[in-house]
Amino acid sequence: MSPFNLQACARPNILALQPYRCARDDYKDDGTNILLDANENAYGPSISPDVASTGVDVDFLGLHRYPDPHQAALKQQLCALRNTHAHTPKTLTPENLFVGVGSDEAIDALLRCFCVPGRDRILTCPPTYGMYAVSAQVNDVAIVKVPLLPAPTFALDVPAILDALTNEENIKLVYLCSPGNPTGSLLAKDQVHQILNHPTWNGVVVLDEAYIDFAFEDASLAEWVTEFPNLVVMQTLSKAFGMAGIRLGAAFTSPPIAALLNSLKAPYNISSPTSALASYAVSDKGLPVMRDNRAKILSQRDRILAELPKIPGVGRLRGGTESNFLLFEMLDAGGAPDNTTALAVYEKLAETKGVVVRFRGKEHGCLGCLRITIGTEPEVTRFLQELRTTLNEVRGS
Ligand SMILES: Cc1ncc(COP(=O)(O)O)c(C=O)c1O
Repeated sequence: MSPFNLQACARPNILALQPYRCARDDYKDDGTNILLDANENAYGPSISPDVASTGVDVDFLGLHRYPDPHQAALKQQLCALRNTHAHTPKTLTPENLFVGVGSDEAIDALLRCFCVPGRDRILTCPPTYGMYAVSAQVNDVAIVKVPLLPAPTFALDVPAILDALTNEENIKLVYLCSPGNPTGSLLAKDQVHQILNHPTWNGVVVLDEAYIDFAFEDASLAEWVTEFPNLVVMQTLSKAFGMAGIRLGAAFTSPPIAALLNSLKAPYNISSPTSALASYAVSDKGLPVMRDNRAKILSQRDRILAELPKIPGVGRLRGGTESNFLLFEMLDAGGAPDNTTALAVYEKLAETKGVVVRFRGKEHGCLGCLRITIGTEPEVTRFLQELRTTLNEVRGS
């Protein structure tokens, strides 16, 4: 018999992982489903329809060569996008940047860079993005949780965070999400400042700005990394830019941290097609498309905000409106927010109506909540209709 025993051989923290499941794994998609579960951009990528003539510079016949490991030109474009000088007169340069396979790569790279497995810890503020915890577990790193204040503000509990950073040992990273997922709330700049100004803590503040382009103009604090040596601001092309399929994320930070992240990454993490498409999306060809699609999303967001409260069984909006999704309560027959109702609505919508949203009722402070990604106008029309009938069926039965 082979002496190989997987259970005794693999790392215990890896054996304990649950394989990633998204809402779409639960339902057969014949291509007609309305996908309002993953905060994608339903209006499409930041690529103009005449792309064949305007040209994305993918060098197909150069694909036998490894891609550029440094991506300096793309980094320069990303800096130009964020050098607004709204928060500092200083200027971002490519030395401030790490680019990765989505911002998920940056989340993991930071853990590997700063946290000794089995010893160091991270601080998160639930309810928040699930990958911080998944990456922490992969790296055998424990989490100190300091929940956000209750809805609707979902603001940071700054005194509790400062206290944890003073009293808890070995916290190396604080992951903050602004606008938050699933809260949709922008964090206050002065509160982030207070954490960065902690008088004794030696660690890094990671600000995840995946949804920042849905918030007000100049909301991004990316250029603040030129002011604070221990700030990382993560962004992605997966959301407002509608480029989730190419997997391109960025981490803005001080040059010494960027150098560490660039040293530890796999050399050729960004493929040449991804780089060419990302470069197009943030160029003066892609940006107008992004802005146009974003305007349509924001108008559908306003429409959902106006229409959802008119549907019997829909409760309060929880959190903010700074993103491309909204968090709403589902109410039981007695009018109270309720997970059984929300889960039944989620399942029925997906199984029988072809509308997939996200159940978030088990997240801290999100009792009875569904997270609804803003879709296109016809998608929103169908979502509103189906939600009305589904709530009626679920609550009436
Ligand atoms: C808050 C937040 N950060 C990061 C990501 C991951 O983005 P990417 O596609 O760049 O890996 C997501 C995706 O849903 C997100 O919600």
